[in-house]
Amino acid sequence: MSTHIAAKPGEVAEVILLPGDPLRAKFIAETYLERPKQYTGIRNILGFTGMYKGKNISVQGTGMGIPSISIYVHELFRDYGVKRAIRIGTAGTIQEHVKIRDLVLAMSASTDSGVNRGRFGGKDYAPTATWSLLKTAYEAAISRNWQPAVGNILCTDLFYSGEPQGWKLWAEYGALAVEMESAELYTVAAKFGREALSILTISDSLVTGEQTTPEERQNTFTRMMEVALETAIS
Ligand code: HPA
Repeated sequence: MSTHIAAKPGEVAEVILLPGDPLRAKFIAETYLERPKQYTGIRNILGFTGMYKGKNISVQGTGMGIPSISIYVHELFRDYGVKRAIRIGTAGTIQEHVKIRDLVLAMSASTDSGVNRGRFGGKDYAPTATWSLLKTAYEAAISRNWQPAVGNILCTDLFYSGEPQGWKLWAEYGALAVEMESAELYTVAAKFGREALSILTISDSLVTGEQTTPEERQNTFTRMMEVALETAIS
């Protein structure tokens, strides 16, 4: 048992899906996995292990933001031997050509967070997805007639920023969308020599102010899950 995850050794699979919302983890476990068993519930951050197409797979919430996901992935890699971690989440588009409901595969994650400046003594690190996972997820999406946007994203520390237009500079340099966890997932995975990818669907637009309806979110979620599960077991 680690500080924040109440699992015993062997209870977490080598492959894990990481939604932000713990109740989404529960929904995924109950909907997609055979014989799911809950291995943790500390702070209501729920984690489950079950089977998908004959393979062991876990799903656990991470909470929101870099500090929260940092704690969970650190313990999953260090204490439970997780080899492959796939974040499934939502992001806000900051490009006109990336639309509501689109799929975004985060090839790299820029950040306005200070955590990597701290880690790397004031220097810049480039958090990057694992190529083989990116390739598999891309092909899984294309085979479903779903063209993903692939590229750099912005991982921000502040949902409610003091500079509401601050995203525009990142957009000018080609960042596709904004979310709050991927830079840390990629960095901690790299530290431990593990695989990581963030698969995101666009829930809202900072460009137009549009938001998806709950029904739309459910439909895009289902497609995102298919891509994530295929990537997970590849
Ligand atoms: N900002 C930050 N994170 C997000 C957003 C956003 O607009 N949408 C979904 N996750």
